[in-house]
Amino acid sequence: MDLQDLRTPDGEAALAAATDLAGGDPLAAAAALRSAGVPPDLAAAALTQATLRRQAAAKFGAEASRLFFTRAGLEQATRSVVARRRADRLVAAGVRSLADLGCGIGADALAAARAGIRVVGVEIDETTATVAAANGAGLFEVVRADATTFDVSGFDAVFCDPARRSTGGRRVFDPAAYSPPWDFVEGLAARVPRLAVKVAPGFDHARVPAGAETELVSVDRDVVEATLWCGSLATVPRRATVLRAGVAFSLTGSGASAAPVGPAGGYLYDPDGAVVRAGLVAEFAATVGGRIGDPTIAYVWTDSPVPTTLGRCFAVTDVLPFSLKRLRAELRARDVGTVEILKRGSALDPAQFRRDLRLRGRTSISLLLTRVAGAHVAVLATPITFEGGQTSAGNPRDGGVDPREGPVHDASL
Ligand SMILES: C[S@@+](CC[C@H](N)C(=O)[O-])C[C@H]1O[C@@H](n2cnc3c(N)ncnc32)[C@H](O)[C@@H]1O
Repeated sequence: MDLQDLRTPDGEAALAAATDLAGGDPLAAAAALRSAGVPPDLAAAALTQATLRRQAAAKFGAEASRLFFTRAGLEQATRSVVARRRADRLVAAGVRSLADLGCGIGADALAAARAGIRVVGVEIDETTATVAAANGAGLFEVVRADATTFDVSGFDAVFCDPARRSTGGRRVFDPAAYSPPWDFVEGLAARVPRLAVKVAPGFDHARVPAGAETELVSVDRDVVEATLWCGSLATVPRRATVLRAGVAFSLTGSGASAAPVGPAGGYLYDPDGAVVRAGLVAEFAATVGGRIGDPTIAYVWTDSPVPTTLGRCFAVTDVLPFSLKRLRAELRARDVGTVEILKRGSALDPAQFRRDLRLRGRTSISLLLTRVAGAHVAVLATPITFEGGQTSAGNPRDGGVDPREGPVHDASL
């Protein structure tokens, strides 16, 4: 059974019926389709596709219901908000034609084509190439070929998102095991004038081609990928892009600056993971006029709440020397029952630590385990949100702290 069967009138009817049934008991769904006269193979294919479409909604929103997927293709596909942003940047750089080497099910190709770029997707796997062609019908062309031998000379730019999985489907971390392999990608960087490469967010900065820009991207606080912008597509050494509700906020820098180190303060910032992984904590600290409490730790302290979209901000109520016993007593005295635990520079397991606290109260608090000037500390705090220029603090369950009153800062550090 292949994709073409799902695109016949019978296949489309089976897929429509499967869409209504997917998400429930799979055996009951298969039985319902068969009793409606759908042949078993077609019923199974329709249910698989309908299930993948449901799962794909997290990455593609409503459009998932018209796209086709393979399981591996969906897992590796770029979510649409990220692909769209990359495509917009290519357009802004003057790219009008693009070779997408290893296009998978076509998520990046689709975004680039919609942005007005003429795209040719190159895909080595036959099933995946068929799926990409169905997704790109009327929008981009798909060539089933090995990217390593594809002629890219007629294109303004090349995009490559190498597969980071073994043939058994397990993730690979060594770029040498990427497909197409990393030495091919490095060779491309040396010979094509404009290249963008999607890599894992943990990609080793030391392997970034000379002169390339590394952009770390997060979506709703989850760091999802890095793009290496090579050749004339690079504009700065490092960039962190934070996408929140589809809006992009960026921070740029060298990745080599050191933030000032100083004492704890009344406000503590947890920079977005994209900022931290891009090595832009110093640049972040400058945006809020802050300092780090320890040269190795990416929490930023300030004395006043400066609005930012590039990290979370907490109003600090106490900075306590770290002690489980003392902390337990403090939290019980405040009737705390729910604790959000964040940590940087602490080896503790938050889940175990939460159990060890044995809290039974009715209020909630944020607890940040970290180090200041080398000493382990426990920071008690309340998250602050900055909406429309207004600062608001507080956990709904404990009434929060009004930042205008100023935090109670334990100076006994
Ligand atoms: C990470 S996926 C691409 C996902 C795609 N960017 C998207 O968002 O849908 C990588 C794809 O490259 C394909 N691939 C791996 N080696 C290839 C090669 N040598 N030539 C062409 N395609 C290749 C794999 O089959 C896989 O579908």
